[in-house]
Order: sequence, then structure tokens, then C-alpha cells
Amino acid sequence: MAKAAPQLASGITWFHSHHFPDGERTQGVKPADILAEEAKAIFRHGVAGKSVLDIGAWDGYFSFEAERRGAGRVLATDHFCWSGEGWGTKAGFDHAHKQFKSKVETLDIDVPQISPATVGRFDVVLFLGVLYHVKDPLRCLEQVASVTAEMMVIETETAFDPFPWPLMRYYEANSLANDPTNFWAPNKACLEAMFRDLGFKRTEIRRHPCVRPSWRNPDLYWKRNRVVMHAWR
Ligand SMILES: C[S@@+](CC[C@H](N)C(=O)[O-])C[C@H]1O[C@@H](n2cnc3c(N)ncnc32)[C@H](O)[C@@H]1O
Repeated sequence: MAKAAPQLASGITWFHSHHFPDGERTQGVKPADILAEEAKAIFRHGVAGKSVLDIGAWDGYFSFEAERRGAGRVLATDHFCWSGEGWGTKAGFDHAHKQFKSKVETLDIDVPQISPATVGRFDVVLFLGVLYHVKDPLRCLEQVASVTAEMMVIETETAFDPFPWPLMRYYEANSLANDPTNFWAPNKACLEAMFRDLGFKRTEIRRHPCVRPSWRNPDLYWKRNRVVMHAWR
């Protein structure tokens, strides 16, 4: 990931901004108001009673939010930011887990290792803010699809959205948000085409509810776009 966030709470550098029941608040790279708006978009079709897999959970905001919204079982997975390969750690997730007295399960597993054999299958799979980090997006979506029983929710950077043809933009070095772990951004037509080829019957793509320059490089903001996509088996 890009540069470390300067904000500290409980001695932890946070990506997500949490509000805990005892009043403690964390100030992460992603502000609380943006996370709340994202959650409304991500969970707009509900997760009550569903099994939920959150791939790339980091500090776990969306895992704990799925639990709070009544998911039957939640498994949070990550590797890059939990293993110290980037600036993140699992300390934030663990702290939040205690604070929320959560039953969310965890597994340290990298995206290429995700399969029915390693994690099982889940009604709802969250794949939020991860697609542009993988070098081989279609192969990766194939794996994520293999563990999705009903619905996948994808939050991602997009590029070339006005074009009707399926296109994907490659970002050399750190040219997307000054982060060398960003590689690819598809356009909406490409997302829809890939999910048709993966056998999904229906997709719904909406603009990200609040792409804001405050948590982005303002120089790049005008070039950027993000979407929340729901895809049904
Ligand atoms: C932008 S964060 C998104 C966190 C959370 N899902 C959200 O939407 O707020 C990207 C996540 O992708 C994970 N990730 C998986 N593979 C990665 C890779 N090759 N490089 C960087 N991050 C990767 C990171 O560990 C991190 O949790």
C-alpha cells in the first residue's frame, strides 16, 4: 500500500475509522462518514442470516458491519496488510474484534490461495478495494467466484467508463495514487463482461457514493472513478 497513515489510536496505525461501543474512536485513512456511506451501498441488498466472506478485510470495518447487520457467519481474510508486507498490520483488526466482542472468524490467506478447499463457500463475498491490487484480475475473480454461492460485492477503481467496449487500464509503477501495488482498473463494460463470462446471471453497478478528494491524491482525483458492483450467481 501507499504511505502510512499518520493517525494513531491505541498505538495502532489505522486504515479504517471505527467508533467503538466504549466511546473510543480510531482515525483511519478512510474517514468514518465515507465508510458509513460505502456500507449503505455495499449492504443495500442485506446480509441478515447469510454467511459472509470479507476478502482483504484489513481493520475489518465491513466484516464487523456485516456482523452488526445480522450475518449468520463472517470470515475475514487478508494477508498483505496482516503480514506486514505493506504498512498495515492485523493489530487494528484484533483491537476492533475485542472492542466489538465480535464472533467474526479470521484467516490469514493471500488472494491467489482462495478456493472452496481453503475457505469453503459463502452466500455473500465482499471483494472491496482489492481488484486493482492483483496482477491477474480475471484469474483472481475466477477464484473469488468459486467461493461465491449467491452474491459477490466488488468495490473497485474503474477507468475509461464512458467507453462501451470492455477495457482495462494498466497503471505503471506507482502511477495510480502513488501506490506501486495498484495495477489494473477495468471499465464498467469490462466488469460486466467478465462477470457474464464467469457465469453470473445479473449485475448491478453504481457509482461509489462518495469519491472524495480528501482521502485521495487531489492531483489524480479528476481522472479517477470508483464503483460498487453487485453480481448474482
Ligand atoms: C484498499 S485496502 C481495502 C480494505 C477494505 N476491504 C476496504 O475496502 O476498506 C486493500 C486490501 O487489499 C489487500 N491486498 C490483497 N492483495 C494485495 C496486494 N497484492 N497488494 C496490496 N494489497 C493487497 C490488502 O491487504 C488490503 O486489505
